[in-house]
Amino acid sequence: MRPMADRDVRVYEVGPRDGLQNEKVPIRTASKLRFVELLAEAGLREIEATSFVSPQAIPQLADADELMASLERRPGVRYPVLVPNERGFARAEAAGVDAICVFTAASEPFTRANVNMTIAESIDAFRPLVASARSRGWWTRGYLSTAFGCPYQGEVSEAAVVAVAQQLIELGVDEISIGDTIGVAGPADVRRVVKALFGAGIGAERMAMHFHDTRGTALANVSAALDLGIRCFDSSTGGTGGCPYAPGAAGNLATEDLVYLLEREGLSHGVDLDALLVAARYVSETLGRPLATKVGQAGGWRVP
Ligand code: COA
Ligand code: ZN
Repeated sequence: MRPMADRDVRVYEVGPRDGLQNEKVPIRTASKLRFVELLAEAGLREIEATSFVSPQAIPQLADADELMASLERRPGVRYPVLVPNERGFARAEAAGVDAICVFTAASEPFTRANVNMTIAESIDAFRPLVASARSRGWWTRGYLSTAFGCPYQGEVSEAAVVAVAQQLIELGVDEISIGDTIGVAGPADVRRVVKALFGAGIGAERMAMHFHDTRGTALANVSAALDLGIRCFDSSTGGTGGCPYAPGAAGNLATEDLVYLLEREGLSHGVDLDALLVAARYVSETLGRPLATKVGQAGGWRVP
């Protein structure tokens, strides 16, 4: 990965995974591969490709083995995948993966619904996975979902977020991604949670933010996080997304909306917006729905 100056922002693409995982109609593996290729073409350097989870839990990503085996890796591009257990780890390894994400949450009911474990059990389950990944030299990430609100429990305290974040960091993951899974946060919540994490000694360089735009606050939240020094954001090209265990959650922050904002902020991100819009239109055609993102509809700003 390139070194990070203060004006370099990492755009971590989750479209092929978080974006597609909740789509009901099966998408052909070839179409997913094409989507990933278009994303790399647009300059994205981190593309979360799929999940090695139970096919009963996420039927749309049941083709993970075939997808990762067929994926043509570009040099300099990381293709992380989600792995929930030893079984998923073995599948990922067989498919030639070298970057994995484990995932838990800040609230018990969501963790139960999502991975059928308590938070403590999930951390115990991930410990050997992260250790094995690290011994192989793989990159690792820990997702911390429902950090701003839980579909079952409601409000989530920053103390709960900090407690789980510390446990993920202790596992040795390279970074944690703090998720607003159901898209309820506003900028004041971002400041509250991120400052609590800083207070616990977790620095911006170990942190990514994962916003859903359910209520239209995602870009405002990015802006607040940028002011706090956060330099990695998860987003989904085409604005797709949702989790079957997070009822009511709408799409992820759209990568095209994020990239436009970063551009106007004078930050560097390495993404070509026109090429990204090709990928966004491809995903909308594949899903048979019009592209609903702001920048997807308006395009970049071409000064006349
Ligand atoms: N890959 C493939 N199959 C798997 C698997 C994996 N990584 N892990 C479990 N399975 C299969 C089991 O073989 C079993 O199949 P069977 O019923 O045909 O025997 C079934 O899935 C259930 O397995 P079990 O070990 O009893 O797990 P569980 O029912 O307690 O589920 C998880 C736990 C973690 C496997 C499951 O909840 C899961 O995959 N969750 C992921 C959810 C997700 O991706 N959410 C979105 C991301 S935030
Ligand atoms: Zn998400």
